[in-house]
Amino acid sequence: VTDELLVYGSYGYVGSLVAQVAVEEGESPVLAGRRAERVEAQATELGLDHRTFSLEYPEVVEDNLEEFDAVLNCAGPYSATAGPLVEACVRTGTDYLDLDGQVDVLESTADRGAEAAEAGVTLLPAVGLDVAATDCLAAHLADQVEDPVRLFLAMDGLGTFSPGTVKSMIDGLDRPGVVREDGELRTVPMGWKTRDVEFDGVRKRAVTVPWGNVSTASDATGVQNVETYATVPEFAIQAMHRTRRLVPLLEADPVNGALQRLVDAVVSGPTAAERGQSLTRIFGQVESDSGERAAARLRVPDTYDFTARSAIESARRVLDGEVDDGYVTPARAFGPDYVFEFPGVERRDVDPSREEATVAER
Ligand SMILES: NC(=O)c1ccc[n+]([C@@H]2O[C@H](COP(=O)([O-])OP(=O)(O)OC[C@H]3O[C@@H](n4cnc5c(N)ncnc54)[C@H](OP(=O)(O)O)[C@@H]3O)[C@@H](O)[C@H]2O)c1
Repeated sequence: VTDELLVYGSYGYVGSLVAQVAVEEGESPVLAGRRAERVEAQATELGLDHRTFSLEYPEVVEDNLEEFDAVLNCAGPYSATAGPLVEACVRTGTDYLDLDGQVDVLESTADRGAEAAEAGVTLLPAVGLDVAATDCLAAHLADQVEDPVRLFLAMDGLGTFSPGTVKSMIDGLDRPGVVREDGELRTVPMGWKTRDVEFDGVRKRAVTVPWGNVSTASDATGVQNVETYATVPEFAIQAMHRTRRLVPLLEADPVNGALQRLVDAVVSGPTAAERGQSLTRIFGQVESDSGERAAARLRVPDTYDFTARSAIESARRVLDGEVDDGYVTPARAFGPDYVFEFPGVERRDVDPSREEATVAER
């Protein structure tokens, strides 16, 4: 069916995986991007239809979206692409999905929720690993505690990066860290807090890194205090505390454009074999003011495969009319057990009293 789903940014690293998974699963989305030669070559190879347009001119974007029921935006950094596509979706009555994980961009998308609901449009951003998997873990934990008020999430294993992930990190370098406190977003320095977190028996150093959950978790769970962490090597923590930046490798050159081009030249993204070996481990805990707690661990193998499959599955459910209009987070749309739709994902509840060390501040 060619007028159902448009995949924008289809020839990027993640977009290509999404297009491949779609074909493997018998779907026929239309592919799109701003560079004709790239999108033509990809569409020809996969036997799919295509469109070429940039996001520069709102009328052009609207003209191209008009005929589609939904668009899946795989073009990042989302700070440049989510705004124009969300705007066009609200105007044309097209449902919108993306793989965003940036707090400020998610907040901007959420701000369009009421308008989207009025227009009968679903805005379902962040259907990749971060946020879909972590949003589902947060919702699972929140379901076990009465009136949960605090959420702590820590992620280990973001070792293999695609070009867009690195570019999004560069995009975030100019921005400080962010946590949610009493319902409000609070700006904090990068690497604000440090904790030791155990993963499979190995203690690792984790620092506050803003994941999309700082934005989505309060919608998904009602929790008003959210801190998200990632494990990083000790040398990176030292550099971060000196410079308050996340990627010491890139700190020498503050000119984003030049860095983005450098990324294109040197970061090709993990190979299929590397992807197959990748593993993301997530620890989460919620607590209430009365001291009630719940904790769980989630393992997601082959994380890019998860992201691509989740993107297509989410789009399918939106097209089937399973998701409400307006702004919706993945866990709100599909429930906490959505993660089990994907190969190899495991979730284990753990005793929070045995995890004291895990959540103790250093
Ligand atoms: N949520 C998750 O778990 C998850 C996982 C992986 C990736 N991601 C995110 O997904 C995004 C893409 O990652 P990637 O590795 O696929 O990146 P990539 O290989 O650099 O591809 C990015 C794609 O976006 C297009 N694009 C970028 N800026 C654009 C703009 N202003 N207008 C139109 N098209 C634009 C690029 O087209 P050109 O070549 O024409 O520039 C390219 O097709 C990133 O934001 C990344 O953080 C999320």
